[in-house]
Amino acid sequence: MAPDDFAFLARLLRRRSGLQLPLEKRALIERRLAPVMRRFDFRDLEGLLRELRLGREALAEAVTEVMTVNESSFFRDPALFAAFESRVLPRLLAARDRRLRIWSAACACGQEAYSIAILLAQMGLARQGWSIELVATDLSADAIARAEAGRYAACEIARGLNAHALRWFRRDGTEWVADDALRRMVSFRRFNLLDSYGWLDDLDIVFCRNVLMYFDPSTRMDVLARMADAMAPDGVLLLGETEMPEGAVFQPSGDGEGIYTRGRAALARAS
Ligand SMILES: C[S@@+](CC[C@H](N)C(=O)[O-])C[C@H]1O[C@@H](n2cnc3c(N)ncnc32)[C@H](O)[C@@H]1O
Repeated sequence: MAPDDFAFLARLLRRRSGLQLPLEKRALIERRLAPVMRRFDFRDLEGLLRELRLGREALAEAVTEVMTVNESSFFRDPALFAAFESRVLPRLLAARDRRLRIWSAACACGQEAYSIAILLAQMGLARQGWSIELVATDLSADAIARAEAGRYAACEIARGLNAHALRWFRRDGTEWVADDALRRMVSFRRFNLLDSYGWLDDLDIVFCRNVLMYFDPSTRMDVLARMADAMAPDGVLLLGETEMPEGAVFQPSGDGEGIYTRGRAALARAS
């Protein structure tokens, strides 16, 4: 790919999704575009890029889709999930009146959201009269469709689900499918983290894991600030292992690595 084509593609992707295209990954990026070329009947990359420059929306959407990395696993980062179960949840449950709002903000194929749902189900909160809203979103239409289906290959199930949690899945041939009861606990929806957060409000818990690392610093700061605005003053944010909240919007909650509460700056703005 010519340097100016690469620069154009990088700008397009950043505007549409916040994702950065590192120049050193040019070969990988070209490989990812191959199925899009076939699907839209382009003989070469130059043709695809020419059409992209003309603003063909379906093509731009397909290109964005293949650039997303939908890698995930159940209970990814067990230490964080343990801290979530033993410290974050009990504190928030004690502070709330039978209503909890949770957002899995870049849920990929749903493993994170189902892990949260399994924890909540094991605690029997619904039986105790709790109303739990668990919303899970992702930019990728393919990932959201897979998450809604709740269908996983045996190797995906083996990554993170213990025998106890496996009770929430039934075997179907070589695959495993999430029980209807589990699937009903999660509302999946396609959503771009760069779009308006107007529909999200008063969130108690936000999982935003392993997505900010693909954004540039200014996009990360913007997303974090808008998330803070959509959260309750004592709401909790959980980030990926290698991610840190930049700016003064969030501060460590004291519950463990990767767990934050809204910081003083955000609280001052909210009051
Ligand atoms: C590596 S996965 C992380 C999945 C899960 N949170 C975890 O930690 O296992 C990153 C996800 O972020 C999504 N993503 C990338 N850019 C996004 C954006 N602008 N808005 C919403 N989701 C986005 C991708 O589609 C992908 O599914």
